[in-house]
Amino acid sequence: MESGPNPEHGSGLSGMPTPLDRRAFLAAAAVVLAPRSPAPRRAPEVHVQREATRSDPWIEVDAAALALNIATVARLSGSRPILAVVKNNAYGLGISTIAARLDANSAIGGFAVVRTDEAIALRDSGARKPILLMARAADADVRELATRGVELAIWAEDDVKRLEALSRDAPLPVQFYIDSGMGRMGLPDYRALPLLRAAAASRALTVTGTFTEFAESAEYDQEQLRRFHALIAAATNERIRLGRLHAASSNGVYHLPAAHFDAVRPGIALYGAYPSRPDEERAKAVLQPAVRLRARVVRVERLRPGDGVSYGRNYVADRHVWTATLPVGHSDGYPREAVKGGRVLINGRLFPVIGAVSASHCIVEIGDEPAAAIGDVATFLGPDDPAIQPNTLAGAVGVSVYDLLMHLSPSLPRVIV
Ligand SMILES: Cc1ncc(COP(=O)(O)O)c(C=O)c1O
Repeated sequence: MESGPNPEHGSGLSGMPTPLDRRAFLAAAAVVLAPRSPAPRRAPEVHVQREATRSDPWIEVDAAALALNIATVARLSGSRPILAVVKNNAYGLGISTIAARLDANSAIGGFAVVRTDEAIALRDSGARKPILLMARAADADVRELATRGVELAIWAEDDVKRLEALSRDAPLPVQFYIDSGMGRMGLPDYRALPLLRAAAASRALTVTGTFTEFAESAEYDQEQLRRFHALIAAATNERIRLGRLHAASSNGVYHLPAAHFDAVRPGIALYGAYPSRPDEERAKAVLQPAVRLRARVVRVERLRPGDGVSYGRNYVADRHVWTATLPVGHSDGYPREAVKGGRVLINGRLFPVIGAVSASHCIVEIGDEPAAAIGDVATFLGPDDPAIQPNTLAGAVGVSVYDLLMHLSPSLPRVIV
């Protein structure tokens, strides 16, 4: 077992910059995190036909890739049910876009989200399978969530009393959220037994599951696993029902088979990105990026030597050279850092992003000839070339692959292809 940080979010291509690990990435002061918009209860209506002509950006969800990744995760997990994590607008794919599609897949046993709005949007978009809200439900939302059968995570010492007071006719479905050492959410394992006892004894609650999460630090994960097992043993000894046990995110699916328990709980792998060590994970089981960010070229122009592009004049032409302007920017979720090595696919060719990525535009250099025309489709992110696949792009420009997907703007129209 290796120790130390997992080199996460890498390119997988030789010659690319060193990938960043998720924790190192979060610690890096230089990182600019785009503000996160709330999950919309409904994504904008999209008509496939309109995508054939629109120049404004759009997002395509590749249904075949999604199905392939689900099958791959199921295989890696010994066919255990998958609780699909669809937080942050399903990692950019769009909750309402993929809800019914995931729900219909027999390998999917249920869903997990981190916001009340996401749970509601998911149910209202056609998901019929169990939904777990891995967050504190506000008192005012408990009834609405209960109406939709959403399972509530409990961990606060007063949660049993609080929910008893809010429950009505039927018992509320709940899951124990155990903090085995991540130190982010949940009840510390060494203090958990009294809550488990109280919930088990309550007529107002039905315990459907017990879960924990890993810090994704190989050696420490083993310690967390040991603590989780010890709690399970203590509860079982007292005949406390824990329901379905689950712990493994995508990293755990790939690297921690001992944590697969009764179900696995991955997010990013379902959407076709490797969670921690892309080369190693690809060798174990190949994923297919299930999302494309696209738009059409809106301007083609030749620069003269000395002409610059965009804010800051970070790029100044040293010769006559052609450029194409694309109506995609950081407000759409395309990272500002793309100028540090990001490339865009147009007409089967890759072109470098130059100058600056502004809120709604970026510019690519297309060479000595006008190799693109107004109306040509540009793909920024997707399966179509290794350079624009999520892990590669993230690694090339030095951002987290999680950020790359989760920052795709919820307001972009989404279409399933
Ligand atoms: C509690 C919990 N479980 C599972 C996941 C899924 O993680 P991943 O996308 O790395 O598979 C997340 C997402 O970060 C999470 O917060």
